[in-house]
Amino acid sequence: MADFFLPKNSKVQKGTAHAAKTGGKTKTFKVYRYDPDSGENPRYDTFEVDTENCGPMVLDALIKMKGEQDASLTFRRSCREGICGSCSMNIDGKNGLACTTAIEDCKSEVTLTPLPHMEVIKDLVPDFTHFYAQYASIKPWLQTVTPEPSGKERLQSPEDRAKLDGLYECILCACCSTSCPSYWWNSDKFLGPAILLQAYRWLADSRDEMAGERLDELEDPFRLYRCHTIMNCANACPKGLNPAKAIAETKKMVAERHL
Ligand code: SF4
Ligand code: F3S
Ligand code: FES
Repeated sequence: MADFFLPKNSKVQKGTAHAAKTGGKTKTFKVYRYDPDSGENPRYDTFEVDTENCGPMVLDALIKMKGEQDASLTFRRSCREGICGSCSMNIDGKNGLACTTAIEDCKSEVTLTPLPHMEVIKDLVPDFTHFYAQYASIKPWLQTVTPEPSGKERLQSPEDRAKLDGLYECILCACCSTSCPSYWWNSDKFLGPAILLQAYRWLADSRDEMAGERLDELEDPFRLYRCHTIMNCANACPKGLNPAKAIAETKKMVAERHL
């Protein structure tokens, strides 16, 4: 795998091989390991996993490796059904969710690395601090100035609600942002596809009354306009969303303000 695709702290050294604990059909997983407390460089460990006694997904294999072969193996997971976004990682060179990627759809030797171009906390766990700070910066909540009608909830027509389809489903897994070369090189200033899709989710909401202020914040050479329509984001999204389209719609809204 080309070096540029790996996480930031990635001078790889020789790793450990773990044999399967039970017989049956096995699959080899080559897993990126990094422990900042050891003072050692990252390495790849190989794990032979008995796939006949394992659940069908890559996350099942990781849980088996941790349970039976190396308890120190570190990764995030919660829902195991593609809802929480916490098991995002790079699987055979493509970002995705370990819990929704079938082992049988992977190559004979499966390579698992953390999401590209993120600082790594440990093994497959990237540091999302900056990503979440960027998310907070777009004020991802309904902002209004008018009082709620009759003190009740703000209603939305079915047509206006439908405009949020393809946006609200985002689980903030960062598969898209960490597949975007523009985000790799400019993540300090460019918001990246995930956060820009979230920003558009509020611009597209008929109940929100701060579109002007939201666009003021986005109209900047870096925050929005470092998207160069590379399209990796749409290809990477495990939920089938299209951040590039949301970015294009946002650029259109900015352009229309200047007509
Ligand atoms: Fe993940 Fe898709 Fe949301 Fe990007 S748009 S954060 S890939 S769910
Ligand atoms: Fe990046 Fe997607 Fe734009 S990959 S450059 S955010 S179209
Ligand atoms: Fe929740 Fe994979 S564990 S998305």
